Amino acid sequence: MTTERTLPTGFVWGAATAAFQVEGANAEDGRSESIWDRFCATPGKVRNGDDGSVACDFYHRYPQDIALMKELGLDAFRFSVAWPRIVPDGRGTVNEAGLDFYDRLVDEVLAAGIEPYATLYHWDLPQVLEDAGGWVERGTAEAFAEYTEVVARRLGDRVTNWITQNEPRVAAWLGYGLGIHAPGRSDLGEMLAAGHHILLSHGLAAEVLRRDVPGARVGIAFDLNPVYPETDSEADRAASWAADGENNRWFLDPVFRAEYPQDIVERWAPAAPPVLDGDMATIAAPVDLLCVNYYTRRVVRAVEDGFAEVYQGDSPHTDIGWEVVPDAFYELLVRLRDEYAPAAISITENGAAFEDIRLHDGQVKDPERQAYIASHLDAVERAVAAGVPVEGYFVWSLLDNFEWAEGYRRRFGIVYVDYPTLERVPKSSFHWYRDFIAGHRA
Ligand code: FCB
Repeated sequence: MTTERTLPTGFVWGAATAAFQVEGANAEDGRSESIWDRFCATPGKVRNGDDGSVACDFYHRYPQDIALMKELGLDAFRFSVAWPRIVPDGRGTVNEAGLDFYDRLVDEVLAAGIEPYATLYHWDLPQVLEDAGGWVERGTAEAFAEYTEVVARRLGDRVTNWITQNEPRVAAWLGYGLGIHAPGRSDLGEMLAAGHHILLSHGLAAEVLRRDVPGARVGIAFDLNPVYPETDSEADRAASWAADGENNRWFLDPVFRAEYPQDIVERWAPAAPPVLDGDMATIAAPVDLLCVNYYTRRVVRAVEDGFAEVYQGDSPHTDIGWEVVPDAFYELLVRLRDEYAPAAISITENGAAFEDIRLHDGQVKDPERQAYIASHLDAVERAVAAGVPVEGYFVWSLLDNFEWAEGYRRRFGIVYVDYPTLERVPKSSFHWYRDFIAGHRA
């Protein structure tokens, strides 16, 4: 894709990973069991019975992966910290060996001239906390603030950019509502409680970061799926607004407006989030960075009791079945600016799963992924040209990795991981991204 537009100097070029998806070493150096270890060990939950015990072995091979980031010319690397490595019992005793790992990681990332972006929660809750009720319990949000303090005190002298929570909707809706992610519960009331306590934990962690890390920039990452009505009928438009409410407004409104959207509160009554006095103000303390994870849109039609998703058979889709719609990404970014006016936006995840095949010459060619990333970067450029304050872009992902309930089958990396040998093979999209970044800098 050629374009005359350019992104501003200082635009942050990045790549992202998450602890459980890449680290492996799940029983090493004092790490305790997480809800994802337990979920993987539960028959029928994860495709092929895959688990995170080895993953990409990033825990041991991170120096090699940082060398790849350097070759890409990245400005920034987004990783997540595994809570069960830091506070194995969920609360109380700190595991120094776990902190040491992230200490070394941050040092090596910085030594490569790359800025670390630390996510504090990317879904790997210590199982002991789940046994005590998990995110349904308010105490888990308090435990998260304690854990945040421990990490902030160790890494805060070198890490400026912090993402408290990754995709609260996925953690709560899929984990506690639909039961297709860990911990695998399905109850509307529990789902709303989990969602609320995850948002509350963000607010509590933000307070800790601002207190303990001078100059901290605090963000929260949402999976935002813009929703479109199948037709222009009033019923479809109402259905689309409701789906948008459940997916997007339920999380954006508390953080930016200190309230849950009333139409959705009514839809879900008598189930309700357990809001106590002061919670909404805690959740809505200003964030420095709205972190946007974007992959696809949703199209819905009105049905008897709400809405139903309509598969867009004529559109291109990725290997995980997600429709490819860069224009929806552009429209989402403009809408965020117009309706929520965030101080700054970072695209903390964007990318595509395709069934990559390693050729006889050892190479992996992934023109579809390259086209996906190029068209979405074009959408970012258009949004920036329209005045949306997007300051960075992180491709998901640096490496093929453990794609949650889908196991290792779905490959999102710009680097191919040959799982039997753990060899890293940069795909053609890697070389393209490297050149694209260099071209923008020139
Ligand atoms: C997001 C997750 C990330 C990855 C991508 C494909 O929802 O944050 O870990 O699995 O989807």
